[in-house]
Amino acid sequence: MTDNSPLLGVNGLTIRGGGRTLVDDLSLAIGRGERLGLIGESGSGKSLTALAIAGLLPTGLRAEGSLKLDGMQVIGARERDLRSLRGRASSTVFQEPLTALDPLMKLGRQLAEPLRRRAQRDGERMSRDTLLRVIHSSLTDVALPDPDRIANSYPHEVSGGQRQRVALAMALATNPLLLIADEPTTALDVTVQGEILDLLARVVAERQMALLFISHDLAVVSRVVDHVVVLKDGVAVERGPIAELLRSPEHEYTRSLVAGARAFDDALGRIS
Ligand SMILES: Nc1ncnc2c1ncn2[C@@H]1O[C@H](COP(=O)(O)OP(=O)(O)OP(=O)(O)O)[C@@H](O)[C@H]1O
Ligand SMILES: [Mg+2]
Repeated sequence: MTDNSPLLGVNGLTIRGGGRTLVDDLSLAIGRGERLGLIGESGSGKSLTALAIAGLLPTGLRAEGSLKLDGMQVIGARERDLRSLRGRASSTVFQEPLTALDPLMKLGRQLAEPLRRRAQRDGERMSRDTLLRVIHSSLTDVALPDPDRIANSYPHEVSGGQRQRVALAMALATNPLLLIADEPTTALDVTVQGEILDLLARVVAERQMALLFISHDLAVVSRVVDHVVVLKDGVAVERGPIAELLRSPEHEYTRSLVAGARAFDDALGRIS
Protein backbone atom coordinates (compact mmCIF):
# COMPACT_ATOMS: atom_id res chain seq x y z
CA MET A 1 0.00 0.00 0.00
CA THR A 2 1.42 3.37 -0.91
CA ASP A 3 1.13 6.05 1.72
CA ASN A 4 0.44 9.52 0.37
CA SER A 5 0.01 11.15 3.74
CA PRO A 6 2.41 13.97 4.55
CA LEU A 7 5.19 13.56 7.09
CA LEU A 8 3.31 15.90 9.40
CA GLY A 9 -0.44 16.34 9.04
CA VAL A 10 -2.21 18.64 11.47
CA ASN A 11 -5.98 18.74 11.11
CA GLY A 12 -8.28 20.84 13.23
CA LEU A 13 -5.80 21.13 16.09
CA THR A 14 -7.46 22.91 18.99
CA ILE A 15 -5.66 23.54 22.27
CA ARG A 16 -7.59 24.62 25.33
CA GLY A 17 -6.53 25.52 28.84
CA GLY A 18 -7.62 27.70 31.71
CA GLY A 19 -11.03 28.20 30.13
CA ARG A 20 -9.46 29.66 26.98
CA THR A 21 -9.01 28.39 23.44
CA LEU A 22 -5.32 28.99 22.75
CA VAL A 23 -5.06 27.36 19.32
CA ASP A 24 -8.24 27.16 17.28
CA ASP A 25 -8.87 24.62 14.52
CA LEU A 26 -5.37 24.80 13.02
CA SER A 27 -4.54 22.69 9.99
CA LEU A 28 -1.22 22.40 8.20
CA ALA A 29 0.86 19.81 6.43
CA ILE A 30 4.57 19.29 5.82
CA GLY A 31 5.85 16.70 3.35
CA ARG A 32 9.26 15.05 3.55
CA GLY A 33 11.98 17.62 2.89
CA GLU A 34 9.51 20.52 2.87
CA ARG A 35 9.99 23.71 4.84
CA LEU A 36 7.11 25.57 6.42
CA GLY A 37 7.15 28.74 8.48
CA LEU A 38 4.70 29.40 11.29
CA ILE A 39 4.55 33.10 11.97
CA GLY A 40 2.62 35.20 14.44
CA GLU A 41 2.92 37.72 17.23
CA SER A 42 3.76 36.88 20.83
CA GLY A 43 1.07 34.74 22.43
CA SER A 44 -0.48 33.62 19.14
CA GLY A 45 0.03 29.93 19.96
CA LYS A 46 3.21 29.09 18.03
CA SER A 47 5.10 27.38 20.83
CA LEU A 48 2.01 25.49 21.98
CA THR A 49 1.63 24.16 18.44
CA ALA A 50 5.28 23.03 18.47
CA LEU A 51 4.83 21.38 21.88
CA ALA A 52 1.67 19.61 20.74
CA ILE A 53 3.51 18.16 17.72
CA ALA A 54 6.25 16.86 20.01
CA GLY A 55 3.59 15.46 22.38
CA LEU A 56 4.94 17.70 25.13
CA LEU A 57 1.99 19.95 25.99
CA PRO A 58 2.17 21.12 29.59
CA THR A 59 -0.31 19.54 31.98
CA GLY A 60 -3.52 21.48 32.19
CA LEU A 61 -3.66 22.01 28.43
CA ARG A 62 -5.71 19.70 26.21
CA ALA A 63 -5.36 19.10 22.49
CA GLU A 64 -8.16 17.98 20.19
CA GLY A 65 -8.18 17.22 16.50
CA SER A 66 -5.70 15.14 14.60
CA LEU A 67 -1.94 15.41 14.63
CA LYS A 68 -0.22 12.74 12.60
CA LEU A 69 3.55 12.49 12.49
CA ASP A 70 5.09 9.86 10.24
CA GLY A 71 1.81 7.97 10.28
CA MET A 72 1.29 8.01 14.05
CA GLN A 73 -1.49 9.85 15.84
CA VAL A 74 0.21 12.00 18.49
CA ILE A 75 -2.90 13.24 20.29
CA GLY A 76 -3.82 10.72 22.95
CA ALA A 77 -0.76 8.55 22.25
CA ARG A 78 0.94 6.71 25.11
CA GLU A 79 4.17 8.21 26.43
CA ARG A 80 6.04 5.04 25.48
CA ASP A 81 5.00 5.39 21.83
CA LEU A 82 5.77 9.10 21.84
CA ARG A 83 9.27 8.40 23.08
CA SER A 84 9.98 6.21 20.09
CA LEU A 85 8.65 8.94 17.80
CA ARG A 86 10.67 11.77 19.35
CA GLY A 87 14.15 12.01 17.96
CA ARG A 88 13.42 9.64 15.09
CA ALA A 89 10.49 11.50 13.52
CA SER A 90 11.04 14.95 14.97
CA SER A 91 13.39 16.98 17.14
CA THR A 92 12.87 20.45 18.51
CA VAL A 93 15.20 23.38 19.00
CA PHE A 94 13.49 25.37 21.71
CA GLN A 95 13.02 29.10 21.96
CA GLU A 96 15.54 29.55 24.76
CA PRO A 97 18.62 27.32 24.47
CA LEU A 98 19.24 27.33 28.20
CA THR A 99 15.98 25.48 28.85
CA ALA A 100 17.18 22.60 26.67
CA LEU A 101 20.59 22.38 28.31
CA ASP A 102 21.50 21.03 31.73
CA PRO A 103 23.57 23.75 33.46
CA LEU A 104 25.49 21.16 35.48
CA MET A 105 26.62 18.93 32.64
CA LYS A 106 29.42 19.56 30.14
CA LEU A 107 28.14 20.14 26.62
CA GLY A 108 29.94 17.12 25.14
CA ARG A 109 28.21 14.76 27.58
CA GLN A 110 24.84 16.34 26.81
CA LEU A 111 25.38 15.89 23.10
CA ALA A 112 26.42 12.27 23.69
CA GLU A 113 22.93 11.35 24.90
CA PRO A 114 20.96 11.85 21.66
CA LEU A 115 23.91 10.45 19.66
CA ARG A 116 23.83 7.26 21.77
CA ARG A 117 20.06 7.04 21.42
CA ARG A 118 20.34 7.20 17.66
CA ALA A 119 23.06 4.53 17.58
CA GLN A 120 20.92 2.29 19.78
CA ARG A 121 17.90 2.89 17.56
CA ASP A 122 19.90 1.99 14.46
CA GLY A 123 21.36 -1.08 16.14
CA GLU A 124 24.91 0.32 16.02
CA ARG A 125 27.47 -0.19 18.72
CA MET A 126 29.36 2.95 19.48
CA SER A 127 32.75 2.70 21.15
CA ARG A 128 34.00 5.54 23.30
CA ASP A 129 36.42 6.61 20.58
CA THR A 130 33.70 6.64 17.94
CA LEU A 131 31.44 8.62 20.24
CA LEU A 132 34.15 11.23 20.82
CA ARG A 133 34.75 11.46 17.09
CA VAL A 134 31.01 11.90 16.36
CA ILE A 135 30.69 14.55 19.08
CA HIS A 136 33.58 16.40 17.46
CA SER A 137 32.09 16.19 13.95
CA SER A 138 28.58 17.14 15.17
CA LEU A 139 30.00 20.32 16.70
CA THR A 140 32.00 21.03 13.55
CA ASP A 141 28.84 20.53 11.46
CA VAL A 142 27.18 23.44 13.23
CA ALA A 143 30.25 25.59 12.54
CA LEU A 144 31.56 25.70 16.08
CA PRO A 145 35.22 26.61 16.21
CA ASP A 146 37.36 24.67 18.65
CA PRO A 147 34.85 21.84 19.18
CA ASP A 148 37.01 20.17 21.83
CA ARG A 149 36.92 23.20 24.07
CA ILE A 150 33.15 23.54 23.57
CA ALA A 151 32.60 19.84 24.38
CA ASN A 152 34.55 20.33 27.61
CA SER A 153 32.63 23.44 28.67
CA TYR A 154 29.54 23.93 30.77
CA PRO A 155 26.66 25.87 29.15
CA HIS A 156 27.51 29.10 31.01
CA GLU A 157 31.10 28.96 29.74
CA VAL A 158 30.13 29.53 26.09
CA SER A 159 28.34 32.39 24.33
CA GLY A 160 24.59 32.52 23.61
CA GLY A 161 25.18 31.90 19.91
CA GLN A 162 27.45 28.94 20.68
CA ARG A 163 24.84 27.51 23.07
CA GLN A 164 22.20 27.74 20.36
CA ARG A 165 24.54 25.95 17.94
CA VAL A 166 25.02 23.16 20.50
CA ALA A 167 21.23 22.96 20.95
CA LEU A 168 20.93 22.67 17.17
CA ALA A 169 23.61 19.95 17.11
CA MET A 170 21.65 18.06 19.79
CA ALA A 171 18.41 18.30 17.80
CA LEU A 172 20.21 17.12 14.66
CA ALA A 173 21.98 14.29 16.49
CA THR A 174 19.06 11.89 16.12
CA ASN A 175 18.79 12.71 12.40
CA PRO A 176 15.05 13.44 12.57
CA LEU A 177 12.76 13.52 9.55
CA LEU A 178 11.36 16.81 10.81
CA LEU A 179 13.23 19.56 12.63
CA ILE A 180 11.08 21.97 14.61
CA ALA A 181 12.86 25.25 15.30
CA ASP A 182 10.95 27.52 17.69
CA GLU A 183 12.36 31.04 17.34
CA PRO A 184 15.87 29.63 17.50
CA THR A 185 17.55 32.98 16.98
CA THR A 186 15.33 35.47 18.78
CA ALA A 187 17.61 35.81 21.80
CA LEU A 188 20.69 36.50 19.66
CA ASP A 189 22.16 39.61 18.11
CA VAL A 190 21.52 40.25 14.42
CA THR A 191 24.90 39.04 13.07
CA VAL A 192 24.82 35.77 14.99
CA GLN A 193 21.14 35.39 14.07
CA GLY A 194 22.01 35.59 10.37
CA GLU A 195 24.83 33.05 10.72
CA ILE A 196 22.60 30.55 12.49
CA LEU A 197 19.78 30.98 9.96
CA ASP A 198 22.18 30.33 7.09
CA LEU A 199 23.57 27.31 8.91
CA LEU A 200 20.10 25.94 9.59
CA ALA A 201 19.03 26.39 5.98
CA ARG A 202 22.18 24.66 4.75
CA VAL A 203 22.02 21.68 7.13
CA VAL A 204 18.33 21.07 6.49
CA ALA A 205 18.87 21.17 2.72
CA GLU A 206 21.92 18.89 2.88
CA ARG A 207 20.10 16.27 4.92
CA GLN A 208 16.77 16.73 3.10
CA MET A 209 15.11 17.24 6.43
CA ALA A 210 11.66 18.75 6.72
CA LEU A 211 11.51 21.96 8.75
CA LEU A 212 8.86 23.72 10.78
CA PHE A 213 10.34 27.13 11.46
CA ILE A 214 8.61 29.33 14.02
CA SER A 215 9.12 33.07 14.33
CA HIS A 216 7.33 36.35 14.87
CA ASP A 217 9.54 37.91 12.23
CA LEU A 218 8.64 37.58 8.54
CA ALA A 219 12.06 38.81 7.42
CA VAL A 220 13.67 35.98 9.39
CA VAL A 221 11.19 33.32 8.22
CA SER A 222 11.61 34.24 4.57
CA ARG A 223 15.31 33.35 4.75
CA VAL A 224 14.67 29.69 5.52
CA VAL A 225 11.24 28.57 4.25
CA ASP A 226 9.18 28.75 1.10
CA HIS A 227 5.66 28.46 2.56
CA VAL A 228 4.14 30.11 5.61
CA VAL A 229 1.09 29.91 7.82
CA VAL A 230 0.18 33.13 9.62
CA LEU A 231 -1.22 32.64 13.11
CA LYS A 232 -3.14 35.31 15.00
CA ASP A 233 -4.75 34.66 18.38
CA GLY A 234 -4.51 30.92 17.74
CA VAL A 235 -6.22 31.10 14.35
CA ALA A 236 -4.52 30.62 10.95
CA VAL A 237 -5.52 33.82 9.13
CA GLU A 238 -3.49 33.37 5.95
CA ARG A 239 -1.19 30.87 4.26
CA GLY A 240 0.75 30.40 1.03
CA PRO A 241 4.10 30.65 -0.70
CA ILE A 242 6.20 33.33 0.94
CA ALA A 243 6.81 35.23 -2.31
CA GLU A 244 3.08 35.53 -2.87
CA LEU A 245 2.42 36.63 0.67
CA LEU A 246 5.09 39.33 0.37
CA ARG A 247 3.65 40.49 -2.94
CA SER A 248 -0.04 40.58 -2.03
CA PRO A 249 -0.86 39.96 1.61
CA GLU A 250 -4.62 39.68 2.08
CA HIS A 251 -5.20 39.78 5.79
CA GLU A 252 -4.63 43.07 7.55
CA TYR A 253 -2.34 41.40 10.07
CA THR A 254 -0.19 39.88 7.31
CA ARG A 255 0.03 43.33 5.71
CA SER A 256 1.44 44.76 8.91
CA LEU A 257 3.99 41.91 9.05
CA VAL A 258 5.04 42.60 5.47
CA ALA A 259 5.37 46.33 6.17
CA GLY A 260 7.55 45.48 9.18
CA ALA A 261 9.75 43.16 7.10
CA ARG A 262 10.12 45.85 4.39
CA ALA A 263 11.18 48.42 6.97
CA PHE A 264 13.77 45.93 8.22
CA ASP A 265 15.07 45.34 4.69
CA ASP A 266 15.22 49.08 4.01
CA ALA A 267 17.11 49.61 7.23
CA LEU A 268 19.65 47.12 5.96
CA GLY A 269 19.90 49.13 2.75
CA ARG A 270 18.52 46.38 0.53
CA ILE A 271 16.12 46.96 -2.32
CA SER A 272 12.72 45.42 -1.60
N1 LIG B 1 0.76 26.16 30.37
C1 LIG B 1 -0.10 27.11 29.96
N2 LIG B 1 -1.29 27.26 30.58
C2 LIG B 1 -2.17 28.20 30.17
N3 LIG B 1 -1.96 29.04 29.15
C3 LIG B 1 -0.80 28.94 28.51
C4 LIG B 1 0.19 27.97 28.85
N4 LIG B 1 1.25 28.10 28.04
C5 LIG B 1 0.93 29.10 27.21
N5 LIG B 1 -0.29 29.61 27.47
C6 LIG B 1 -0.96 30.71 26.76
O1 LIG B 1 -1.22 30.29 25.43
C7 LIG B 1 -1.05 31.37 24.51
C8 LIG B 1 -0.10 30.95 23.42
O2 LIG B 1 1.19 30.74 23.99
P1 LIG B 1 2.48 30.38 23.12
O3 LIG B 1 3.59 30.13 24.06
O4 LIG B 1 2.13 29.29 22.18
O5 LIG B 1 2.70 31.73 22.33
P2 LIG B 1 3.82 32.05 21.21
O6 LIG B 1 3.10 32.34 19.95
O7 LIG B 1 4.84 30.99 21.21
O8 LIG B 1 4.41 33.42 21.77
P3 LIG B 1 5.97 33.97 21.80
O9 LIG B 1 6.23 34.57 20.45
O10 LIG B 1 5.94 35.01 22.88
O11 LIG B 1 6.86 32.83 22.12
C9 LIG B 1 -0.59 32.56 25.34
O12 LIG B 1 -1.70 33.38 25.60
C10 LIG B 1 -0.08 31.93 26.62
O13 LIG B 1 -0.21 32.81 27.70
MG1 LIG C 1 6.84 30.91 21.70
